[in-house]
Amino acid sequence: MPRRERNKFVKRGQVIEILIEDYAFGGKGIGRIRNEHGEFVVFVPNTLPGQLVKAQVKKSSKKYAECKLFEVLKPSEDEVEMPYQDIPGAPYIQLPIEKQHEYKKKSTLELFKRIGKVADIETKFDEFVKSPNTFHYRNKMEYGFSAIGYNRELKTDVDEFTLGFKKRGTWWCGDNLNRDSGLFDAEFENHLKAIRTYCEATGLDPWHAPKKEGFFRYLVVRKSYKTNKLLFNLVTTSHDLSAFDLNKFADYLVELFGERVAGLLHTINDEVGDRTIATTGQIQLIYGEDKIVEELLGLNFEISMKSFFQTNPKCAEKLYSKVIEYALENKEAIDNSIVLDLFCGTGTIGQILASRASNTKIVGVDIVLSAIEDAKENAKRNNIEGLEFYAADVGKFLTEHPEFNNKIRTIILDPARAGIAPKTLKKIIKLNADRLVYVSCNPATQARDTEQLMHAGYVIKKLSLVDQFPHTAHIETVVLFEKN
Ligand SMILES: C[S@@+](CC[C@H](N)C(=O)[O-])C[C@H]1O[C@@H](n2cnc3c(N)ncnc32)[C@H](O)[C@@H]1O
Repeated sequence: MPRRERNKFVKRGQVIEILIEDYAFGGKGIGRIRNEHGEFVVFVPNTLPGQLVKAQVKKSSKKYAECKLFEVLKPSEDEVEMPYQDIPGAPYIQLPIEKQHEYKKKSTLELFKRIGKVADIETKFDEFVKSPNTFHYRNKMEYGFSAIGYNRELKTDVDEFTLGFKKRGTWWCGDNLNRDSGLFDAEFENHLKAIRTYCEATGLDPWHAPKKEGFFRYLVVRKSYKTNKLLFNLVTTSHDLSAFDLNKFADYLVELFGERVAGLLHTINDEVGDRTIATTGQIQLIYGEDKIVEELLGLNFEISMKSFFQTNPKCAEKLYSKVIEYALENKEAIDNSIVLDLFCGTGTIGQILASRASNTKIVGVDIVLSAIEDAKENAKRNNIEGLEFYAADVGKFLTEHPEFNNKIRTIILDPARAGIAPKTLKKIIKLNADRLVYVSCNPATQARDTEQLMHAGYVIKKLSLVDQFPHTAHIETVVLFEKN
């Protein structure tokens, strides 16, 4: 057997210093090592062109290496000071927003060329839709309690009561959020320290991730931009619950935020796994109401703690407007017809479309039952007729409903990050629709699906990017496909 050729540039585990020269899709910085053997590419996530970084090689192949960032030794000249506390959820906050847009656009179009094999993607590009709010745009945050903190000066873990986010790159270590991060509600985040002090003073323990024990786990907050109200969910274990006065905690929140408090929920979660906890466990209303109302493009949506709802509602309006614009480009194909809204979530797109079309039946399908229940409720509240919702897997639904084959002219698709399962995509293609409006929160899987769609005779007519999450590597795309 031939021996594997030794990599002439890096070794696994090696710590390197490298200048980041470029930006690849998904927030990976690209550095290049040049020596007598030629040029070698190194990817370092969460870095920016112009930064000099220290990183460790985690994986390497003949062509490139993947590294883990240790520290930024020299910032990029593009970076500017920000008045916010730096958090892992906003790795690019110091980069001016125009520069973020430039990187996102370039790297996403590259992806369509490389994975989707669309050589002329630039000619299909329609619009880069900006978020109306660059800062304080999120409507939901989950803050975690931790019994392990991090001392930045000593650069070591310490036993400490923390409330905030995980320290970047760790699962066991918390980092206190002491003030506004620039992403969520400034008034709330400037009071988070006081909430931490209140909880710490009870003498009850925060969650210790390695030991899998403790009382306080998460504080989840939802905000309505329409009413400016806040809905809280405190997640704890049942252990020590009798020693914590939930009503007193609700009073304390009202003391801090007054009429802005819509309600306080309490969730008991005794699972040891450390995944998102907001929706699992036993949930109980302690104070006020268990829902908030949000408005999108003139329609009202009731949101409970469990419902999926777009995280940046002001920008979601722009995203949905783009979807509707593409769908209505050929209004004749919409009026008096059936439109499928696949992966419809709480049915927002279908409802907006139905309110702008005439005599259109919209069939929404989503696998999550509670989302479909919310969709039905919201349609009733908004007085929109002509909508049917089904709680089902899209693939199974299409197998069970062959009556839609050759009957549909327009399909809306908005799958989750994993994209559309290949078998399901085949069934969608079999429907033989004239046009697909495909929304994606992960253009990498959308570019993969694009290749399949092109084999089946679809072409990209237009593509827009929507910056739903400023200061992160995420970007949303809306693509209009038409049968060639
Ligand atoms: C990005 S969200 C859609 C959001 C929705 N269009 C909205 O604006 O409210 C993706 C949706 O796909 C659903 N989903 C994931 N896998 C599915 C499957 N196999 N079949 C049906 N729905 C699925 C998820 O429950 C989720 O609601």
